[in-house]
Amino acid sequence: MKLAVEGLNSHYGPAHILFDIALEVGDGEVVALLGRNGAGKSTTFRSIVGLVAQRTGRIVFEGRDVSDQPTHAIVSAGLGYVPEERRIFPDLTVRQNLEAARKAPASPRGREWTVDAVFETFPTLVGLAGRKGGYLSGGEQQMLTIGRTLMGNPDLLLLDEPSEGLAPLIVRDLGRQIRRLKEQGLTILLCEQNAKFATKLSDRAYILEKGHVRFSGSIEALHDNDDVRRQYLGL
Ligand SMILES: Nc1ncnc2c1ncn2[C@@H]1O[C@H](COP(=O)(O)OP(=O)(O)O)[C@@H](O)[C@H]1O
Ligand SMILES: [Mg+2]
Repeated sequence: MKLAVEGLNSHYGPAHILFDIALEVGDGEVVALLGRNGAGKSTTFRSIVGLVAQRTGRIVFEGRDVSDQPTHAIVSAGLGYVPEERRIFPDLTVRQNLEAARKAPASPRGREWTVDAVFETFPTLVGLAGRKGGYLSGGEQQMLTIGRTLMGNPDLLLLDEPSEGLAPLIVRDLGRQIRRLKEQGLTILLCEQNAKFATKLSDRAYILEKGHVRFSGSIEALHDNDDVRRQYLGL
């Protein structure tokens, strides 16, 4: 098991946001965390990486309880977090953005990403290597943001709404690139409002509604469950 979340409850001030969330991500799996805007997807991710102050429950990453660890230690242990808001340096070029994000692998057996390997995964970035981050389109920035996280050699990638705000053609490219990461053996937990996009890439799915897990199962089981899809995904 790569990641296990057990009995997670999170609050912002007086507001109880997440209720007894349990989820698991196996080695090499791509798992989708689905749900409408405000369901608690980002809060779940932020709770996993230690960015929510009021949180109870257990976060177990690669067999180690990291619940009480600070964010930087969780990230160093190999958990690569790509937040919803894209984080790049606007004044650095694409290449410099990637070089600035390089870190030693967390585990000695782990993959060591290079700028060239990121360019292989995201061919769109090759022709933009010398362009400043601030001059990229939304899709290009998303690819660069993921590339920057890969340069930290994560064992598990948490992607928060990677398709958000991107044009359909770009979303298709991004889907292909994420599938390629999966083929290379990377484990991915992906949260998305765009269930169509996410389920095409994923092995299993969880659905959140109002901070509760309302469904968990295979993508096939989700496709076969009209009630759940209609009620929680509007599909
Ligand atoms: N910093 C915050 N302070 C207070 N409430 C928040 C904060 N961030 C999110 N929320 C609330 O928590 C709930 C879940 O939000 P979020 O996790 O961002 O949902 P999602 O990512 O699924 O859209 C929403 O009701 C949202 O308004
Ligand atoms: Mg969100």
